[in-house]
Amino acid sequence: MSTSVRKYYIKKFKIKVLIYLVSLTSIDMFAQNPLNIPPVLTGSSFNLKIQSGSQNFYSGKNTPTLGINSVWMAPTIIVYKGDSVTLNVKNTLNIKTTMHWHGLHVAAFNDDGPHQIIQPSATWSPSFKIRNNAATYWYHPHGAGQTDPQVSKGLSGFLIVKDSQEAALNLPRTYGIDDIPLNIQSKAFDDLQQIAIATESDTAIFINGTLHAYFNSPAQVIRFRLLNGSSLRTYNLGLSNGQKFYQIATDGGMLDSSIVLTRLILSPGERAEILINFAGLSGQTIYLKSYASELPKGIYGANQIGMGKDTIAEYGTNFLNGSDFNLMELRIVAQTTNPITTVPTALIPFIPLNKNFVTNSRTIEFDTIRLLQNDLPNLSEGPFAMNKRSFDMDSINEVIYLNTTEIWTLVNNTLVAHPFHIHDVQFNIIKKNGMEPSSSEKGWKDVVLVMPKDSVKFITRFEDFANNKVPYMYHCHLLHHEDDGMMGSFLVIDTARLTSIKNIQKSTMKIEAFPNPSNNIWTIDGSAPNKIILVEVFNILGKSIFSLSPSQQSNKISFNISNEELPCGMYFLKLTSLTTSQTIHLIKI
Ligand code: C2O
Ligand code: CU
Repeated sequence: MSTSVRKYYIKKFKIKVLIYLVSLTSIDMFAQNPLNIPPVLTGSSFNLKIQSGSQNFYSGKNTPTLGINSVWMAPTIIVYKGDSVTLNVKNTLNIKTTMHWHGLHVAAFNDDGPHQIIQPSATWSPSFKIRNNAATYWYHPHGAGQTDPQVSKGLSGFLIVKDSQEAALNLPRTYGIDDIPLNIQSKAFDDLQQIAIATESDTAIFINGTLHAYFNSPAQVIRFRLLNGSSLRTYNLGLSNGQKFYQIATDGGMLDSSIVLTRLILSPGERAEILINFAGLSGQTIYLKSYASELPKGIYGANQIGMGKDTIAEYGTNFLNGSDFNLMELRIVAQTTNPITTVPTALIPFIPLNKNFVTNSRTIEFDTIRLLQNDLPNLSEGPFAMNKRSFDMDSINEVIYLNTTEIWTLVNNTLVAHPFHIHDVQFNIIKKNGMEPSSSEKGWKDVVLVMPKDSVKFITRFEDFANNKVPYMYHCHLLHHEDDGMMGSFLVIDTARLTSIKNIQKSTMKIEAFPNPSNNIWTIDGSAPNKIILVEVFNILGKSIFSLSPSQQSNKISFNISNEELPCGMYFLKLTSLTTSQTIHLIKI
């Protein structure tokens, strides 16, 4: 072997070692895989087949994966506001799953929280009308305790809604060319290169399921539909050349005007649409980065969470935490024909919800369960609870009346930031720690990051889909927090459809039940001659909870409902006298 050839081999070997070391110790700085652009499904009937298989992310190692209509990741569903659609979700796995349309305003039984399970080999076919405004939504499983494993292994797809207002704007909208979905996910791998969950070692960055992605971006205005589809990590997005970009949409709609930014914080579950103008940059390479060194502490991804004993073990060992790193390489190439070259300022007029119509407010507090149990409280480590309860499939945490506008206050008593998500509705943030929200958070939202020891107030309206039995969910979108029970449920009920107390008083039984709703005591007053001899209490699923037979002569029966065993929600009380029986509805709050 000549010296130069030997040198070449040594050099090549050194580079190999270097690449090996780099990929072992940090995110590979060399983007090498073309960005996957998920295939598109359009129309009114969609077939989604959930499958399992494997991928070779790391040479020679097989990683088991999940996918929809493929074995890894999921197609992009494009729908139009006003369309009626049917989604046939077929589960070919040998485990149960669910499929949730994150951000869509659909009936609870179509929304697929943990209550609508798709058994192995079953097909679930919800049909509904698209009522949402044009924006970027997504779909992913929501199974009890199984969201993180199933999403991390690949079940995560875009759902893009279009409408006529958005279509009237001069925006890039050629999918895959100048309108690009980016599902940003950090993943952890164990020693056998299996995707690991609930660990602090999520060091591999995937975009649309592509590890080390690059994208050939034409030198013009490009629209990126950003989704933070990660289980835990928040990104502080920016461009390596310091260039400005423009936010045009939030989770649930277009903004009223584009916002000029150099950084955008996106927490798990959040979406944002941005425009970047690459005109004149042909031939250059730019990186989309997360400037995590600038993230406020307490956010998963910042350099610090908690302090002293209130920290997460292992957190500091993840080199991504608190450092600036590349998410994707952008190779700027020649313009397409008919490029969009300007960024519009005015977008779609935004009409916020009216505070004068607020009829109720409620508070959701975040705590650690250990603190509640006085057991080694660590304010950074879960499991976490909402309003002192862990998620329970059979109980209802909040009952909301149809056609009402409410203000919710989220209070975070822990030392870690939690992205709060609510199903069914979009909301407007009114206050963050007592201050106005930033312009990026002024549009329609369905996820909001609640900082440690901070609070967020939002206004929202519940105007469709009353159902006395099937609840919607609200939860933390850090997936293993959700899986560990940091989730609650709510019913939207139509009071007009309930038997009102007034009607009951007019009935032959002369029954009064009060107070309703109550969190403490219910008193039933059934006057003679129809003295009540039996009170049976059923939950919303029709399961008998307890019954009482008053023995004394009094017509009043009182019972305490404050005990923990009786979850908040709606109950049916069947009241029986010697001659008749009647059922009334009461609500525990
Ligand atoms: Cu994206 Cu309840 O979830
Ligand atoms: Cu959380």
